[in-house]
Amino acid sequence: MRILVTGGAGFIGANFLNLLVPRHREHQFVNLDALTYAANPRSLDPVASLPNYAFERADLCDFSGLRAVFARHQPEVVVHFAAESHVDRSIAGPRAFVRTNVEGTFNLLEACRELWTPGQGLFHHVSTDEVFGSLGATGRFDEETRYDPSSPYSASKAASDHLVRAWHRTFGLPVRVSNCSNNYGPLQFPEKLIPLMILNLLERKPLPVYGQGLNVRDWLYVEDHCEAIWAIIGAGQNGRTYNIGGRSEQRNIDVVKQLCHLVAEETGTPEAELLGLICYVSDRPGHDLRYAIDSSRIEAELAWKPRESFASGLRKTVRWYLANRAWIDSVRTGEYRRWIEQNYGSR
Ligand code: NAD
Ligand code: TYD
Repeated sequence: MRILVTGGAGFIGANFLNLLVPRHREHQFVNLDALTYAANPRSLDPVASLPNYAFERADLCDFSGLRAVFARHQPEVVVHFAAESHVDRSIAGPRAFVRTNVEGTFNLLEACRELWTPGQGLFHHVSTDEVFGSLGATGRFDEETRYDPSSPYSASKAASDHLVRAWHRTFGLPVRVSNCSNNYGPLQFPEKLIPLMILNLLERKPLPVYGQGLNVRDWLYVEDHCEAIWAIIGAGQNGRTYNIGGRSEQRNIDVVKQLCHLVAEETGTPEAELLGLICYVSDRPGHDLRYAIDSSRIEAELAWKPRESFASGLRKTVRWYLANRAWIDSVRTGEYRRWIEQNYGSR
């Protein structure tokens, strides 16, 4: 199969390619990525020279460039990861989110419709549980939960999900959608909670917890997410949605405390010194209280379940960041420092 992956230089896309390109030499993988601030070409070092891997720098919002890539590679499967993905950035500047997540997804759907005859091809859309909005203390999101997004990020992802389903119903495009909970693991850009806290811990910087740290996220190790997507591509049904989650709900403050414990253990630092770095800062506007996923559909229909526990995945993640200082240095550019100043300077 010829498989085109968008956003393959970002966190989840790179983990997906690093996992699957070496395992599936019978398939050709093309990584289409605009290389925004969130991308790091170094993340693809393990696959860059493999014969079944190719890279194309292109912006989803440039339709003629996109068509040229489609004409060159004639993909049979498209796995759509590319997006603007950080909620706080979507609050600071929503325009890029509407541009890439809505217009970019639209362009990609149109490129597929042009290339594929009706019923041909497969478009897998990678989305988030944040489209469902916030849960209270109980309940879980299933595939029938009503969309109710809170942030510009989640609203733009909701819009893209609707476009994908509309292209299926109206034009017969073979699509599958997955809505996944929060991912963590190697190669995650250190603007998101877990890598940001690990890096701050390593430098003994304050650990900025929004509000009271009582918001709950359902954490999934990134490779478990990638395996779920691969299972859906292999054996899912067209037009169907799959929720993917880790059955691993954690309050933010508890995640931060576990990270203090792990970094203390791994680096031989007194834990009390690291716990002393925790500071509570002003809350995110529109901050969803709780996410939790009911992934019984994918578990029952595709025999998928997460392999990693939160404890083992978090330890692996801490060890990865400790062992990969060069990767960290390569993403902490001037742009990164500007974002940290903008987001945390006045909190
Ligand atoms: P990321 O921000 O780490 O990477 C996004 C990638 O997309 C980058 O390589 C970037 O260069 C590329 N990109 C951005 N705009 C582009 C454009 N206009 N054209 C081409 N490429 C462009 O994101 P991630 O965390 O890897 O998330 C990947 C996907 O998974 C997203 O669609 C996101 O909504 C979804 N998702 C993420 C999580 C999570 O916890 N990170 C959870 C569920 C779903
Ligand atoms: P994040 O990793 O940005 O993912 P999302 O907002 O998509 O769930 O944030 C995870 C949780 O951690 C969220 O409730 C916000 C919180 N958070 C902090 O408390 N401090 C921080 O510095 C960051 C980045 C996030």
